[in-house]
Amino acid sequence: MTRTQTETTGPAGAAGTGEAQGPQQYEIVVVANRLPVDLTVEEDGSTSWRRSPGGLVSALEPVMQAADGAWIGWTGSPDVEAEPFDADDMHLVPLTLSADEVADYYEGFSNDTLWPLSHDVISPPEFHRHWWDAYRRVNRRFAEAAAGLAAPGAVVWVHDYQLQLVPALLRELRPDLRIGYFHHIPFPPLEIFAQLPWRRQVVEGLLGADLVGFQRAGDAGNFIRVVRRLTDLAARGQLVTVPGHDGGEDRVVRAAAFPISIDSSRFDAMARRPEVRARAEEIRADLGNPAVLLLGVDRLDYTKGIRHRIKAYGELLAEGRLSVPDAALVQVASPSRENVEAYQQLRDEVEGLVGRINGEFGAIGSAAVYYLHHSYPPDEMAALYLAADVMLVTSLRDGMNLVAKEFVAACVDDRGVLVLSEFTGAADELSGALLVNPHDIDGLKDTIERAARMERKEMRARMRKLRRRVLADDVTKWSDSFLAALGAGVDGAEVPEQDVDHLRHAHQPHGEGPRGGDDA
Ligand code: G6P
Repeated sequence: MTRTQTETTGPAGAAGTGEAQGPQQYEIVVVANRLPVDLTVEEDGSTSWRRSPGGLVSALEPVMQAADGAWIGWTGSPDVEAEPFDADDMHLVPLTLSADEVADYYEGFSNDTLWPLSHDVISPPEFHRHWWDAYRRVNRRFAEAAAGLAAPGAVVWVHDYQLQLVPALLRELRPDLRIGYFHHIPFPPLEIFAQLPWRRQVVEGLLGADLVGFQRAGDAGNFIRVVRRLTDLAARGQLVTVPGHDGGEDRVVRAAAFPISIDSSRFDAMARRPEVRARAEEIRADLGNPAVLLLGVDRLDYTKGIRHRIKAYGELLAEGRLSVPDAALVQVASPSRENVEAYQQLRDEVEGLVGRINGEFGAIGSAAVYYLHHSYPPDEMAALYLAADVMLVTSLRDGMNLVAKEFVAACVDDRGVLVLSEFTGAADELSGALLVNPHDIDGLKDTIERAARMERKEMRARMRKLRRRVLADDVTKWSDSFLAALGAGVDGAEVPEQDVDHLRHAHQPHGEGPRGGDDA
């Protein structure tokens, strides 16, 4: 994707300028690093908005469409000035980041400090004071934009690690708002979080919210332990008491788990469409109809355990426990954070490994690994899921992993085995999967082999169990339960219906666009 441009073809919206006196205000405002669409520049210089990568978009789009809300986020390119506009029944308010801010706030502090710190320091986090300064500055701009768009007493839902200071900054500007924050990635244990030089400011930023949501109970527990050790505040169970400003009333903040999901029925419906089923057949045929088709789908990120998975597969080939062309591995690795050095290094390593395995075990017309450094639209992903026999999710650490859930939702014939890392949030929920420790290469090899040879009967029983769970606990249930808890007050007892009614909604299907490798 081209990284610089100045003009947009997106329709200009009438409302939501980010000014407090602006003409229209919204009952629900989502604040996320990215808009649900990215601005892209075509080869002929024209620009268009395309669905952005990552799980957040798929998770929130149905909520926003139903609630008629506004969404504040970055366009995905530096120095882009774009007017607010309406798309897919959402009011989108682009926030401009300069090239320096993209480098320091997004690539630097968000993705080279907080991201590795939150993922077991798999890659060493870098601590730079000028990155922190940019993070604070950009968080303040997001908070100011939200303060200008929110109606009196509105709900503002802040998302993810890029914006952890927004809840407190926003509360200072607009104490009337009900503020929710959801952390899509793991919250690290105290011993790791404590490395962050600005750890206290980050915790205080999050405590500006009324409700702080996490993927797993363990993440919420880590957060509460951090609050106890790094602040003087009283924490009991899920609740933290924060003294009011200038002798005002105390506030109680709740930290709890709300495991995110996907629009399951959408993937289920997609995988039943005749053209998607035909495409799945075609994919298998193009690969030479292998007896076992293994699939990996990830953003190209060092947290995903892509190298571990390919190494295990290579050893299975070397030992003759799998062989080409009977077996094939398709690895979709969608491009991600390409200006961050750790990601460039990972790309070199993965591509080196794929080259070596193909060189050794491939033949003309039959590769061992089909490596695709692209994003794909959802219906192509559904066809791939449907075509696969074994789905490999081998993350070293992952907040949830929505790819695992997408695969399950697409397995409408109860065919397919999910190999799932213990270190994903999804492992807490998906008990029909074969769980693995991706660091244990021998264990991983045994599990891949077991999945490849699994009898139809066991496969069907496991997949049915998985599907019951994924179809029941979908993204609508997730957002409803978060918003109900946000409306409910800390004891969870009274729910002021007038405040949350308009946020509850019927499920709506949403539009399609290019992407692939959703994760959270
Ligand atoms: C993860 C994060 C999201 C992020 C996505 C894609 O899912 O939790 O906040 O949007 O990765 O990463 P990117 O840096 O491209 O936004």
